[in-house]
Amino acid sequence: MAEYLVELYVAQGDHTAARHHAVSAERAGTQLAREGRAVRYVRSIFVPEDETCFLLYEADSADLVAEAVVRAGLRPEHVSAAATSVAGAQESPDGTTRGTHMTSTTTSSTPDLTALRDKQQKIWSSGDYNKIAALTVPVSEHLVDHVGVGPGDRVLDVATGTGHVALAAARRSAEVAGIDYVPALLAVARRRAAAEDLAVELTEADAEHLPYDDAAFDVVLSAIGVMFAADHDAAARELVRVTRPGGRIGVASWTPEGFVGGMLRAVGAHVSPPPGAQPATRWGTEEVVAGLFGEEVADVRSVTATVTQRFAHPEAFADLFLTYYGPTFAAAGRLDDEGRAALRADLVALAESHDRGEGACGLVCDWEYRIVTATRR
Ligand SMILES: C[S@@+](CC[C@H](N)C(=O)[O-])C[C@H]1O[C@@H](n2cnc3c(N)ncnc32)[C@H](O)[C@@H]1O
Repeated sequence: MAEYLVELYVAQGDHTAARHHAVSAERAGTQLAREGRAVRYVRSIFVPEDETCFLLYEADSADLVAEAVVRAGLRPEHVSAAATSVAGAQESPDGTTRGTHMTSTTTSSTPDLTALRDKQQKIWSSGDYNKIAALTVPVSEHLVDHVGVGPGDRVLDVATGTGHVALAAARRSAEVAGIDYVPALLAVARRRAAAEDLAVELTEADAEHLPYDDAAFDVVLSAIGVMFAADHDAAARELVRVTRPGGRIGVASWTPEGFVGGMLRAVGAHVSPPPGAQPATRWGTEEVVAGLFGEEVADVRSVTATVTQRFAHPEAFADLFLTYYGPTFAAAGRLDDEGRAALRADLVALAESHDRGEGACGLVCDWEYRIVTATRR
């Protein structure tokens, strides 16, 4: 049997949840083994710094592991074939193993980040993100105000999509450039800029290879954009590289513990993310972003906020996202009718669990995001 690694989000310090996941994972593995299935739970490793609990299974296939995890009622970020080493791994009194840092996770094939990037580009080109984009206008406005953009600032909006941040910065009389790797979304951004007679330079480009000189911008921003890059380290390096010394970087990301974090986990529970894909919501944690930016930035801070969303009812939310939002649309396309119905049911349940309960107003829920800011040294 091969070894498989399951990654679960667990909030920093939540040892009770990590223990609970380990117990459920073991119970599900034992049940399946009793049914004659070739799967065995080995152990769990909690890495609080990464907000991740790793479950190690032996099994004949990744599908069997996914089945065990679903049976355990868990929502994994990934299931991958793996040989893993955890620095500082120690048995805790509660039976879980605690690691200080994931030092080497070698999947059976090294993640091909170029292939992953191409796959994710296709995902964001699928559905029709423009039908969803309006939901996050307040996040972009908040980001631009929070970082403080003024007349004459040279501003870059990375993964601009339909241009929310770029347009908000241009309205504040900044000199603005925006990049994204989905041409159809840039076309919408160009139409919006033209409609408002705003000068914004919009370029098709990859966040991991920005087509700008070092230190080209005073302010570099990304609203729930760069978090979806395939190679987090490369994207973070690029944000830092193109910011001038003393310039500011601001990134708004969905939090792992908020509504969209829950939605992405629900998707991952039905369709395993591609090998090597890192959870996008890592960017919603200040410590992770500080680590990604490294020593070339100072004064890393964060604020947490919510954006309120309204839908006629939970099913309307689920159907909108299954039809237009790339990640959910693409996942639904890989499922059969039964699988799609199960994913839809999970999205409806997620929405219901976040409903403020305002009755006649329909579904009203708050989606949490975190803005992390830093100054380039
Ligand atoms: C959730 S949308 C957000 C778009 C926009 N920032 C907004 O606030 O509406 C995510 C965007 O990230 C873009 N994106 C993800 N990875 C990218 C990459 N490596 N390079 C360029 N764009 C990327 C997608 O094409 C998509 O437009």
